[in-house]
Amino acid sequence: MGFAIRTEHLRKVYPGAHGASAALEDLTLDIPDGRVYGVIGRNGAGKTTFVRIAATQLVLTSGSATVLGHDVATEERAIRTRIACVPQEARPLYFLNVDEVVYLYLKLRGLDPADARARTKDALEQLSLTEFRRRTVSRLSGGLRRRVLCAMVLASDAEILFLDEPTTGLDPIARRQVWEAIRRAIRERRTILLTTHYLDEAEALSARLALFERGRLVLEGTPEDLRARVRYPYRVTIQGSTPREELQSYGRVSAIEGGFLVFARESEARDLARLALERGLKVGLGPVSLEGIFLDVVGRSIEDEGPTPEVEG
Ligand SMILES: Nc1ncnc2c1ncn2[C@@H]1O[C@H](COP(=O)(O)OP(=O)(O)OP(=O)(O)O)[C@@H](O)[C@H]1O
Ligand SMILES: [Mg+2]
Repeated sequence: MGFAIRTEHLRKVYPGAHGASAALEDLTLDIPDGRVYGVIGRNGAGKTTFVRIAATQLVLTSGSATVLGHDVATEERAIRTRIACVPQEARPLYFLNVDEVVYLYLKLRGLDPADARARTKDALEQLSLTEFRRRTVSRLSGGLRRRVLCAMVLASDAEILFLDEPTTGLDPIARRQVWEAIRRAIRERRTILLTTHYLDEAEALSARLALFERGRLVLEGTPEDLRARVRYPYRVTIQGSTPREELQSYGRVSAIEGGFLVFARESEARDLARLALERGLKVGLGPVSLEGIFLDVVGRSIEDEGPTPEVEG
């Protein structure tokens, strides 16, 4: 396995950003090929900036980045033919029909007509767009337009797909169809850089993940690596009446409908679950989701107000 994207000490300061901190700071990342690589983080963390630099749409300030072995600063033409992008904000051409827009995109990428036609049909089917294929794009709903963009990029023959919040605004069924299309692209040995605020989506799809916070990389690894690095990798839910003070010695407690949610270390989580069962309370015990990890790490970073949150190793 090789690396699809590599960066070293990448820094980006937008022109005219007076005194503000950099949009990306000292970002060193190796993104393996043939997998989904998820990038998560709060609004303004730098995800789109990173995607746009790697997709050669934005010039970096310092440091370096290579995509498929080519330098983004000097070899953008070699990169552009081998990548495809669903930008965070984009609309497919309004005045064309759905099937025309996908077909034309593939033709412009250099596919021969028969291949482009077959791929268009296939992608429209996969994202349940076949019934809309003769509709003008301007007459589609927002989510359907987003699906058309996903179809274009997923139907392409690009080796790296940059998907910047591809499923934002999609209904739950359509989201899962995009997931399936992403998995299929991975079976075809393509690489996907995915940003998303749906952490269930990031967790379900990503082989590795990066968590950005205020332009910096604060966590990187497989979902398991990330879980191993948070203070409280287990979550216990307790339904029924029990004094909150008693729970506090086990971990971090928050009230939920009808009971409490406790984030805890493994042994404390077990002890607490046992205690609650003995008292006849309803208990749920499991590893934290990516959302729990996010809230833990980013929540601490906000409390600290420091540039880089401390993560227990
Ligand atoms: N064109 C621009 N000019 C100046 N500053 C910008 C520009 N685009 C983004 N920024 C700033 O750079 C930082 C990173 O923005 P970016 O869009 O990369 O964040 P993001 O992680 O994609 O956020 P979101 O989750 O909201 O999409 C933010 O502070 C943002 O205000
Ligand atoms: Mg963004």
